[in-house]
Order: sequence, then structure tokens, then C-alpha cells
Amino acid sequence: MTSVIQTHHLNLSYGSKQALFDVDFPFAERQVTALIGPSGCGKSTLLRCLNRMNDLIPSCKITGEILFRDENILDADPVELRKQIGMVFQRPNPFPKSIYDNIAYGPRAHGERDAGKLDAIVENSLKGAALWDEVNDRLHDSALGLSGGQQQRLCIARTLAVSPEIILMDDPCSALDPIATSKIETLITDLKQKYTVIIVTHNMQQAARVSDTTGFMYLGKLVEVDDTKKIFSNPAEDLTERYVTGRFG
Ligand SMILES: Nc1ncnc2c1ncn2[C@@H]1O[C@H](COP(=O)(O)OP(=O)(O)OP(=O)(O)O)[C@@H](O)[C@H]1O
Ligand SMILES: [Mg+2]
Repeated sequence: MTSVIQTHHLNLSYGSKQALFDVDFPFAERQVTALIGPSGCGKSTLLRCLNRMNDLIPSCKITGEILFRDENILDADPVELRKQIGMVFQRPNPFPKSIYDNIAYGPRAHGERDAGKLDAIVENSLKGAALWDEVNDRLHDSALGLSGGQQQRLCIARTLAVSPEIILMDDPCSALDPIATSKIETLITDLKQKYTVIIVTHNMQQAARVSDTTGFMYLGKLVEVDDTKKIFSNPAEDLTERYVTGRFG
């Protein structure tokens, strides 16, 4: 397995409260990796480390390293890094702008001015997020008029627009109904042709459906990471087994 990004001895504290303990996590390239575990175990914290979103929290202290293509991202320029490692949040958060301007926002911020190129980026990103057919006749309408599921696919398209390598998703379906969820799950499976996807989910069936690899976290520690099938059928650790069979959490 080739890992595209890997944490080594990653420790993180918020003030005096330690939230991650010595996490060594290899994330496989062009696969879907799911992070599961009970509320408060550190899933979002770990995900946010991967594109330096924790930098925005002043009390947060990190030690260890996170190698992305052999470079420690803790020393990288966060703005450049977030172009390569994009993030989709739990609640869809489109900008109060048109569909077109939401997608073009990132490329414009990075200096793209050519109208033809921007049109192509918008079209390709919407196609990549399985939204083009539903919105191509109203690109200049407000993104806030889209349904929740469409807004979440728009947020995925917005991430694709800057050509990332890795897409982080923090429980992207938790605010969506089952049909919208199923569309996003299909999309996630398609995305791994081109991208590495790392998804936090509360929904164990979802982890089992969409991911190749699953990491189980508990109280800030990575208990185990393995093939998703193995985690859900025959995990190495008793704690994992108890969690995936619904005996706690
Ligand atoms: N900004 C913050 N400041 C202080 N403590 C925080 C902050 N964010 C998270 N924590 C704490 O760090 C621990 C891990 O939180 P985190 O949000 O990573 O958990 P999680 O696994 O994503 O939980 P959930 O499933 O509820 O989203 C928790 O104890 C939480 O209270
Ligand atoms: Mg969380």
C-alpha cells in the first residue's frame, strides 16, 4: 500500500487537554479511508490536522509529524497546503453567491482570470461532483436556493475546483436525508478514481459501504486501522469489535 499522507507520533492538545495521543496513521492513496469512533474521540481533530485547520485554534499545540509526499506539512505554507488538501464540512456551507461564483471562488483566489478557463473549471467541477445535470441551466442563481444535498455536492465541487489530491470530509451526510446521502456515497466511491478521500462518519454502515480502510479511534488514540472488511468482520482488538457490533458508543 502506498500512503500519500501519514501521521507519525502525532500528539495534540487544546490547552491542557490532550485530544490525540501518539497517532501513527498511514492514509492510502486513491482509496477511501473512514475514521470511526465515539463522540469526542478525536476524529475531527485528526482530520483537521491534515490540512492545518487546527492552526485557527490558538490553544492548540501539536507535536510529531505529518508527512505528505515526504514533506512535513506542519512546516508547510497552510494556504498552499489547503489547495492540495481540501475539506468538506458536516453542514453544507455554500457562500451567499451564485453557483458559478461558489465554484470559481478558489481558482480566482489563486489568480485565475481567464473566463474560458473558469467556465471549464466550473463545468468540470460540477460534473465531478455529480451536480452539473441538475444545475447547468441556473449557474447564476444563488447557491442558497439549492437543496441540502445539492449544497453539499456544491461544496464538494468547490473543493474539486482547485484540483486537490486529498479530500477531507467531516461527516458530510449527517445533515442529509437518505436519498441525498446515497448520492454522496456514490460520489465518494467515484472520487477515489482520482482523489484520496478521508471521511469521518458517525454511520458505521456508511463506513462499511464507502471505505476501503477504516481506522477506529477511542479517547484520542488510534486503536486499529485495517481493511474495512476486516474491521467490521474480524477486528484485531476487542474494543473495536465491541464498538462495531454496537455494544458501546
Ligand atoms: N476547539 C477546541 N477547543 C478545546 N477542546 C476541543 C476543541 N475541539 C475539540 N476539543 C476536544 O477534543 C476532543 C476531541 O474532539 P473532536 O471534535 O475531535 O471529537 P470527534 O471524534 O470529532 O467527536 P464527534 O463525533 O462528536 O464529532 C474532545 O474532548 C473535544 O471536547
Ligand atoms: Mg467531529
